[in-house]
Amino acid sequence: MRRYLLTGHEQPTVTLHEGEDRNPGKRELAIDLRATSLNYRDLLVAKSVKDLVPLSDGAGIVSGIGAGVEGFAVGDRVVIGFMPEWVEGDFTEAKKATALGGGGVHGVLAERIVVPATGAVRIPDAMTFEEAATLPCAGVTAWSALFERRPVQPGETVLLLGTGGVSIFALQLAKIAGARVIITSSSDDKLDRARALGADHVINYRAHPEWHDEVLRLTDGVGADLAVDVGGPGTLNRTLKSTRFGGRILLMGVLTGFEGPIETGSILEKRITLQGIYVGPVATLRALVRTGIAPQVDHVFSFEEANAAFDALRSAGHFGKLVVKIGR
Ligand SMILES: NC(=O)c1ccc[n+]([C@@H]2O[C@H](COP(=O)([O-])OP(=O)(O)OC[C@H]3O[C@@H](n4cnc5c(N)ncnc54)[C@H](OP(=O)(O)O)[C@@H]3O)[C@@H](O)[C@H]2O)c1
Repeated sequence: MRRYLLTGHEQPTVTLHEGEDRNPGKRELAIDLRATSLNYRDLLVAKSVKDLVPLSDGAGIVSGIGAGVEGFAVGDRVVIGFMPEWVEGDFTEAKKATALGGGGVHGVLAERIVVPATGAVRIPDAMTFEEAATLPCAGVTAWSALFERRPVQPGETVLLLGTGGVSIFALQLAKIAGARVIITSSSDDKLDRARALGADHVINYRAHPEWHDEVLRLTDGVGADLAVDVGGPGTLNRTLKSTRFGGRILLMGVLTGFEGPIETGSILEKRITLQGIYVGPVATLRALVRTGIAPQVDHVFSFEEANAAFDALRSAGHFGKLVVKIGR
């Protein structure tokens, strides 16, 4: 069984190794992986971690079944949850600790993985492994942001930042929900692609560094009902300005780092609900699979091109998702 291990360098690099195979134990499944996708998180992990199999998002074929597992057969096509033991219900530290491809838990940039059976979700024949492998982190996170507590309503205005994995899934899901979408990007070409996917208004945040003014202009000075902030401290103050009184901000991103001065006054004065998001449970992945969503796969790399996939993620030229194909 071949697998990649992180080398621990500042510049994400992986090296191919022959790994030890093991049979699935009690309540576990062995899965022959067919595809994986990359997330911004994988760059953060790669900077600090060594000798770990990276990447959280995998899809493949069940090849072994441990004792006590029900509902799966060898040959089933499945996608694996980001946190295989957060099936549903409240989030806990113990469930968070099961996240694949980080925190000491090997990930899916390998030909085979053994995971708790609770993490596997069957996928329909019409969904390719490459498509399924985009769902566990970015897709589930976008779903959590839009639908978890107070689902976005038809006609509400949703603000999305950039055209990476999370934001493009949020665009697709917000349109399914009947919302009006404003999306930003540094690239006019990507904004054209966002329009083709249904974005109602687009803003180039390079051409308009004060992009919150554009959001207010597009919403008659009121602001968005809901904003999905993937940027963090470098974007949050503008997102606060872009959000209406009584609106909601779903904060999950760290594209501009982890710390910075935040104008807390506008959170309270505008009575804004600011909610943190950390991916979501396997139940959400199951719901997402049922939508039949067509993920936006920007490029598929071969297994041998894994380092090129990391380079592409780092240079952020992608729209939607980057995928690595595994095996035959
Ligand atoms: N908490 C969670 O559960 C969770 C889950 C998934 C992701 N995340 C976080 O969410 C963020 C996005 O993740 P991802 O995997 O979707 O990333 P990604 O696919 O790598 O997205 C990168 C894109 O983000 C946009 N971007 C970068 N800096 C920006 C800025 N200052 N303002 C607006 N847009 C900016 C750029 O879009 P353009 O090229 O269009 O400008 C860039 O291409 C990351 O910080 C990640 O860690 C968190």
